[in-house]
Amino acid sequence: MIDPFAIKRHSKVDPRRVAFTAFARLSDRVATSRFDRYALPLTDEGALNQVVESEIDDTDVNQRQMDVLSKHLAAVQQRLPGAIVEIGAYRGVTTRRMAEVAPDQQVYAIDPYIGYGGSDVDLAKFQARNASVANITHLRKPSGAGLADLAGTPISFIFIDAVHDYVNVRFDGGSWFKLLRPGGMIAFHDVDDIVFAGTRRAVWELARQATLVAHVPGLVLLSK
Ligand SMILES: C[S@@+](CC[C@H](N)C(=O)[O-])C[C@H]1O[C@@H](n2cnc3c(N)ncnc32)[C@H](O)[C@@H]1O
Repeated sequence: MIDPFAIKRHSKVDPRRVAFTAFARLSDRVATSRFDRYALPLTDEGALNQVVESEIDDTDVNQRQMDVLSKHLAAVQQRLPGAIVEIGAYRGVTTRRMAEVAPDQQVYAIDPYIGYGGSDVDLAKFQARNASVANITHLRKPSGAGLADLAGTPISFIFIDAVHDYVNVRFDGGSWFKLLRPGGMIAFHDVDDIVFAGTRRAVWELARQATLVAHVPGLVLLSK
C-alpha cells in the first residue's frame, strides 16, 4: 500500500505522484457520493463514568468519545496487555488520557508536527502537557516512518486521528492493523462527518476484515 507521505519525496510532476494524487482525489469523491453506504451501525455503550473532565479546547474528541475510548482501552488492557500507539497526537490530550488509563503500558505518540494539522505550537503544548508522564514516548515522524520502529513491539491498542482523507486513513489503518496483536483494538476518530467522507470509507473497508466493537457518533473501534 502506498504511503501518502512517502510519495511526496517525488516531484509534483513525477507521473507516480500525479497518478496517486488523482487517485486520492477520486477516492474522496467516491466516498462523499456514497457517504450513507459506508455508515457502520451505532452500538449501545450505555451510561459511562467520566474518568476525567475532557480538555475540550485542545482536542476535537468530545467527552462521550473520550469515555468510550477509555472504557475499551481499559478492557483490552485487562485481557491483552500491550503497547498503545497514537497516530496524530496534536496537543496531547488523548495521549495523556490513554497513558492515564493504562499506566503500566507505554504510549507511543507518532506525530511529525510538519503541518497537516500539527505545528511547532502544538508540539510545545503536547510537551508541556505530557512532560511529567513517564509512560509516553513521542516519535517525531509520520505514521509510515514509525512502522519500522515498532515492528517488534506487542501492540494492543491503536488510535488513528491524523490526516482524514481516504488514502491516509486507508494507509494508517491498514498498515498499523497488521502490527496489532490478534484480539487487540484499533480506534478511528472523525468517522461520521461528510467533510471527512474518506475516513468513513476507509474504516468501513477495514471493518470487513475486523469485528466492530463500538461506534458512537464520530468514533469507531474495531478488534482484530
Ligand atoms: C486531528 S489532530 C490529532 C488530535 C489528537 N488525537 C487529539 O484529539 O488530541 C491531527 C494530528 O495529526 C498529525 N499528523 C498529520 N499527518 C500525520 C502522519 N502522517 N502521521 C502522524 N501524524 C500526523 C498532525 O501533526 C496533527 O497533530
